[in-house]
Amino acid sequence: MVIRIAAVGDVHLDEDVVGRFRPALEELPECADVLLLAGDLTRHGTEAEARCVATEFGGLAVPVVTVLGNHDHQCDQVPQVVKVLEDAGITVLEGNGVVLDCAGGRLGIAGVKGFGGGFAGRCASDFGEPEMKAFVRTTTDSADRLGAALRSLDCDMLVALTHYSPVPDTLAGEPLEIYPFLGSYQLGQAIDSAPTALAVHGHAHAGTERGTTPGGVRVRNVAHPVIKQAYSVFHVGDQLDTDQVSPIGQSGSQRSWS
Ligand SMILES: [Fe+2]
Ligand SMILES: [Fe+2]
Repeated sequence: MVIRIAAVGDVHLDEDVVGRFRPALEELPECADVLLLAGDLTRHGTEAEARCVATEFGGLAVPVVTVLGNHDHQCDQVPQVVKVLEDAGITVLEGNGVVLDCAGGRLGIAGVKGFGGGFAGRCASDFGEPEMKAFVRTTTDSADRLGAALRSLDCDMLVALTHYSPVPDTLAGEPLEIYPFLGSYQLGQAIDSAPTALAVHGHAHAGTERGTTPGGVRVRNVAHPVIKQAYSVFHVGDQLDTDQVSPIGQSGSQRSWS
């Protein structure tokens, strides 16, 4: 029993980029049961850019499940962005989950944007000024909701989808000084609180593809500037947890984004 999961993040679509992923996306049914989008779908989170995302990722032959990223919040149009995506048939997760019936079994996906805070020995703490407490509590709340969603799903295979990173491994290549703004160990703890088979995230454009939570869960940074292809494909199953080399090659824009 194997479930095939395609994933990409940080596509940062606008009208200049829309269309570049579509040829590769049309081939998804041949290699994947579902497509996960790890946030930063847009450049500035406008409703107009969301329509570009809907054009690019709507109407595909496989289900599409996403979380939003920090860029998708930039213009304070999150409700409008979510509505455009959902009207295009894309499932938007934020502290909740969905179970999909795939040929290889029931796939549970729990998703949350996540937030920063840092990692063991180098993290912000819930102490001092109200602004610092608010920062840390945003992360704690996000991680708590991810963990609760993961533990609530009745499924055969469980995947965690975030924008911010749950581990420092996949940040390698980014400046150490900005790690606390790229993810939090609390997301990793949430992932380890359930029998998660795979965790995918984005956000760290200069990071590294592969990592592992302290509990041994496979973590993959699928930010487009990292994977340098339209999507990566991962297999999860009873006997086989593997990363597949996408047959799609180097589709998608190679321009760099902040
Ligand atoms: Fe990004
Ligand atoms: Fe981001």
